[in-house]
Amino acid sequence: MSTGYDHTAGPLTTESGAPIASNNQSEAAGPGGPLLIQDQVLLEKLAHFNRERIPERVVHARGAGAYGTFTVTADVTAYTRAAFLSEVGKETETFLRFSTVAGSLGSADAVRDPRGWALKFYTEEGNYDLVGNNTPVFFIRDAIKFPDFIHTQKRDPYTGSQEADNVWDFWSHSPESVHQVTWLFGDRGIPASYRHMDGFGSHTYQWVNEAGEQFWVKYHFKTDQGIRNLTQAEADALAGTDPDSHQRDLREAIERGEYPSWTVQVQIMPAAEAATYRFNPFDLTKVWPNADYPRITIGKLELNRNPENVFAEVEQSAFSPAHFVPGIGPSPDKMLQGRLFAYGDAHRYRVGVNADQLPVNRPHATVARNGNRDGLGYDGRHGRSRNYEPNSFGGPAETGRPLWAPVQVAGATGAWETPRHAEDDDFVQAGNLYRLMSADEQDRLIANLAGFLAKVGRDDIVERAVGNFAKADEQYGKRLAAAVAELRGR
Ligand code: HEM
Repeated sequence: MSTGYDHTAGPLTTESGAPIASNNQSEAAGPGGPLLIQDQVLLEKLAHFNRERIPERVVHARGAGAYGTFTVTADVTAYTRAAFLSEVGKETETFLRFSTVAGSLGSADAVRDPRGWALKFYTEEGNYDLVGNNTPVFFIRDAIKFPDFIHTQKRDPYTGSQEADNVWDFWSHSPESVHQVTWLFGDRGIPASYRHMDGFGSHTYQWVNEAGEQFWVKYHFKTDQGIRNLTQAEADALAGTDPDSHQRDLREAIERGEYPSWTVQVQIMPAAEAATYRFNPFDLTKVWPNADYPRITIGKLELNRNPENVFAEVEQSAFSPAHFVPGIGPSPDKMLQGRLFAYGDAHRYRVGVNADQLPVNRPHATVARNGNRDGLGYDGRHGRSRNYEPNSFGGPAETGRPLWAPVQVAGATGAWETPRHAEDDDFVQAGNLYRLMSADEQDRLIANLAGFLAKVGRDDIVERAVGNFAKADEQYGKRLAAAVAELRGR
């Protein structure tokens, strides 16, 4: 990401390029001061320093990123017309930012929290962003609940700390969270590093092929390094002694030439099967069991280049679930639909209206051509080209071909509950996950959950929370109730 200039040769200069005589003593009215307003070197330096920070991400503030290569290993042209997936062996440049969710920019890496998995494919038809997590499901199924949920994960307005009461109050009032909470407090809740975890697109997305046939798709990225996790005790120790553990591990592995990689798989559902599938396929709190829709391996993702400048390329990186390319589109998932708005809006606030044209964010394999111009930080890249369409001067024109296929909708507008399919309830998959765990993992799950739940002050919140786990599996609920009662001494 070099600018072409050598920033080390020649004298120190001001921002406007004039040589600096003194960078260690301010200009003063006599040896003892006071300082002079004519010392523009001092004033410019202090003023620039005051403006070094941009707002941190409201969630996923803490993260690390790397560039890489995605390679297609299977023919998927029957399912999508996306150009970057059009040929076995085809390679696409990528940038992947990993993150934790709740902590602020300076927080520790080794914590129990989902890990963000934000992947940008720089394709020849525009950038395709897949903004997922290391978990296949999520806590809630409607975007309108997200700000309330995050408020309970972040610092309480009065105490200034995360409060167990708030976290469990929200979760216990949102029984659809039991599946993700079971996942999070199980062994995979604290990955040993970003390299040793899987990634997921999590939502269901639409793929459409050249003939216009539609499919619903879920993405899985299986780590080739193997899954490795930390216990709560290991993580507590590491977070205290080495807060940057995950970030450094990623950078150093790439520096050593040990490029981490993931096997990319998809589950594919023909569009016509969605209406009668046993689970609502657009409910983000549910997985599609592999037995129903087996995973198909379609590619390899390798990370092989560190960013040169963390602020420019990681802090200013901007991913949006609304960044689609021809052949890929959204599903009606009510979480995804909200996210289609939220990210671009966040970028315009956090990085500015020209965020998408910064080097890390702009298309690398094509260029952005439209009439959008100006605004803070605009670099004039369009030169004298006209800024409207249609025009008679050979400007770019619309294609008339939507990126994705139309989706049938039905019913009146309204604040509806998400429709339930034959086997849907909030608890069935959480119970299945609990019963899938080994006895040892169940023990650790109960201990991890009880340790946090026992910090809750109010009995009604504890009871409501335990009641939800009991609905997932009676034994799960009973064991948790006993463990919490023991820790709370009542
Ligand atoms: C409706 C629910 C959600 C809303 C409103 C929301 C909103 C946001 C916002 C505003 C950001 C900060 C973006 C920025 O400043 O660049 C963010 C970051 C992120 N979100 Fe969400 N989010 C939601 C759900 C999810 C879900 C379900 C996932 C994963 C499946 C997810 C994954 C991420 C990731 C990975 C990032 C960090 C992106 C990066 O590395 O820059 N979010 N989210």
